[in-house]
Amino acid sequence: MSILITGGAGYIGSHTSVELLNAGYDIVIVDNFSNSKPEVLNRIKELTGKGFKFYEVDVLDKDALSQVFSENHIEAVIHFAGLKSVGESVAMPINYYYNNITGNLILAEVMAKHNVKKIVFSSSATVYGMNNISPLTEDLPLSTTNPYGSTKLMGEQIFQDIYVSDNEWSIALLRYFNPIGAHESGRIGEDPKGIPNNIMPYITQVAVGKREKLNVFGDDYDTHDGTGVRDYIHVVDLAKGHLKAVEKIMGTKGVKIYNLGTGIGYSVLDLVKNFEEATGVKVPYVITKRRPGDIAACFSDPTKALKELNWKTEKTLKDMCKDSWKWQSNNPKGY
Ligand code: NAD
Ligand code: UD1
Repeated sequence: MSILITGGAGYIGSHTSVELLNAGYDIVIVDNFSNSKPEVLNRIKELTGKGFKFYEVDVLDKDALSQVFSENHIEAVIHFAGLKSVGESVAMPINYYYNNITGNLILAEVMAKHNVKKIVFSSSATVYGMNNISPLTEDLPLSTTNPYGSTKLMGEQIFQDIYVSDNEWSIALLRYFNPIGAHESGRIGEDPKGIPNNIMPYITQVAVGKREKLNVFGDDYDTHDGTGVRDYIHVVDLAKGHLKAVEKIMGTKGVKIYNLGTGIGYSVLDLVKNFEEATGVKVPYVITKRRPGDIAACFSDPTKALKELNWKTEKTLKDMCKDSWKWQSNNPKGY
């Protein structure tokens, strides 16, 4: 019995693969390397001392995906594969809807054909939109402001509708807050292509001397220091949340929705300060104008995941900074 991990060569998928292998699960990874590199697979093996099957397959390739199910005894799927850049999604909405939505549909169709009806789906805090006040609970009204976010909201809807049509399905929709950090070994981490959009890879690239300074997007928000507040979560804590979600869907049917966050909001300047303290490396920054589409504060209420999954985060913001830095400084060019 194996867990199929789509997008397992990516940032969150690789960390989750390590945690699953360490916990004794057999895994099969599918990835098309559209946003990752093959080297990550060697690192996963090196960190765990365990082997696994890998298929360079696009989730949109129905026949190839079906072959993966025919050749393996898949019990459940964790579906990470998807495109994830907000800005890119605004410029290329067709690509985003095509990859993320069609990917969900083809995967679900192939799963049903092979009678595999357990799935964990990567959603995002972006589905809470611009109008809710943090801390965010799972029952709030949802909305989105960009095509990427819409693919996540539609993805949630697709899996809810599948359950309505067939109550044999067991589905976990996980809404991630802001994953940062890396495995404490410094061997796997986030490896963005080009100029990072997200803050932590930008900070580490400034720290390593690849970029001159951080642009802090606005200091006039209604927050404790005027800069944007987010719920940063260590990627290893997030990966462990997936193990709990897998355990949950093994034992129940239905659709479960969980926030995966710490419940704590830190500002951009808090993050810079903690990074400097944790690493001893200065991060020069300038205040620039707000980034369109950003909100002042976004952080989770993670109570439901604690109650129903018995999961909570363990790592601090300093751990996140230290581990991001170890990854970046040991791998200045990524994989
Ligand atoms: P990532 O880009 O590092 O990983 C995604 C992986 O999926 C990549 O390895 C990519 O090559 C692969 N992939 C994409 N489309 C594919 C396809 N059609 N077929 C096969 N493989 C494909 O991203 P990540 O940060 O690890 O995110 C994983 C998931 O979590 C994504 O669905 C993302 O939208 C979601 N998410 C991420 C964040 C975040 O901040 N990183 C926040 C919320 C939600
Ligand atoms: C972004 C996405 C969100 C996605 C999330 C995780 C946008 C508008 N939102 O969220 O949909 O789910 O990533 O992938 O892109 N910041 C700076 N300077 C920078 C980069 C960021 O000051 O160079 C600030 C931002 O204004 C924000 C905070 O840092 O206050 C975090 O930004 P980021 O890492 O991009 O995440 P989100 O905006 O929360």
